[in-house]
Amino acid sequence: MKVGIDAIAFYTPQHYVDMAELAVARGIEPEKFTLGLGQERMSIATPCEDTVHLAINASLKALRDFDIHPEDIGTLVVGTETGIDHSKPIAVYVHHALGLPDNCITYETKHACFGAMAAVTSVGDWIISGRAKGKKALIIAADIANYPVKSSAEPTQGAGAVAIVVSEDPNLCEFDRSIHGYFTKNVMDFWRPLYSKEAFADGHYSISCYLDALEKSKLDSGEKAPAITELAACLYHVPFVKMASKAHQKNFEVELGHAIEKGTPEFDQFKASFAEKTQPWLAFNSQVGNIYTASLFLSLINLLSSSELKAGETVSVFSYGSGCAASYSIFSLVEGYERWKAVIDPGSLLNERRKLSIAEYERVMSKRDEVIKESGVINPEDWDLTSNYLYIGNRNHIRQYSGLNIG
Ligand code: HMG
Repeated sequence: MKVGIDAIAFYTPQHYVDMAELAVARGIEPEKFTLGLGQERMSIATPCEDTVHLAINASLKALRDFDIHPEDIGTLVVGTETGIDHSKPIAVYVHHALGLPDNCITYETKHACFGAMAAVTSVGDWIISGRAKGKKALIIAADIANYPVKSSAEPTQGAGAVAIVVSEDPNLCEFDRSIHGYFTKNVMDFWRPLYSKEAFADGHYSISCYLDALEKSKLDSGEKAPAITELAACLYHVPFVKMASKAHQKNFEVELGHAIEKGTPEFDQFKASFAEKTQPWLAFNSQVGNIYTASLFLSLINLLSSSELKAGETVSVFSYGSGCAASYSIFSLVEGYERWKAVIDPGSLLNERRKLSIAEYERVMSKRDEVIKESGVINPEDWDLTSNYLYIGNRNHIRQYSGLNIG
């Protein structure tokens, strides 16, 4: 049985910050953000654009664009580290908005940026086991990366969601069920305590934890795993674009068995390999910023919507979640995937976003920190918003969304 990705769609908030302008406002050379981190813009979520809003809009688009009926969905999982409640999952709001069947298995997963990839693998096993009985699974990776204003992590924020439908006989790519590598280790590289809206990161340590997890999960994937030269593309978790370059170098070094130095022929080979197999799929990440669980899948969307790769060609997929957990797996492109390119391409969504001045961005950030408790209203017009399923405040401690009758 072939199992893999049948449909995919991206959604992001309607505003962004220009990274060069942010650098100037912070007294930093713009090239540090644009070249040193590789980021051009970052999506900024206003208080109305929470993860429920992002998840619903991405999943409606996936079902509509690929003509999938709600009755076809047998499992719904939201992978996120930006939960809106300690108990109630975002997934049940999505279930309601999409009108999914009441016997649909529905839950939320969390392990930093690894939560959605863990769900994608699990639902693949659900389908292979036969318990899906021909139904499909909808996985949504939805996150808002939030660090303190003026901190060194500030330029690595972002917001967005990717909805992924996993099924038998998929339209887009197939999972190689024989190759999987995993790694878990208790590290304090990045975390967000219950009392904080903002994440804490030990930035440089987190980069070394990521690279260590890449090495260990790749080695765990075993000898059957294809070498970089046999792969058409290598995708990585992308907290910022430059991280994917560091990851590809590490991947190269793991295969060589030693570190490579700038100025050597091996370094030139790594650079050429990165330019061919990873860099072409990072343009959207550079426009959106870190979207935690969804970052890896945004790079996959970039590949699926713009590549000239052929059916049967293979792609390595590395997921990293701080804390930490990681997986290394292989997907292959299926016959006819190209006909979905235009549908998947999020170019117009990205171009339609409105730029925030740095003063407007700082206002958004200060308002995002305000907590509405029992009752209170947020007006979407204050943020110039036009989309559906916006968070509009609380009534009797219950979150309210435009267009969703909750109670
Ligand atoms: P920093 O310390 O301010 O930056 O923060 P830096 O000094 O390391 O500089 C960054 C790069 O810019 C360097 O390049 C500089 O050389 C370069 P590198 O040496 O690394 O190749 N640079 C310049 N380049 C051109 N022109 C210039 C210039 N100046 C400097 N003028 C850091 C960077 C990423 C640490 C910070 O933003 C941070 O802490 N971010 C949050 C943590 C993070 O993103 N970690 C990534 C790995 S962990 C992960 O991916 C998991 C995560 O997604 C969470 C989850 O799992 O849920 C975060």
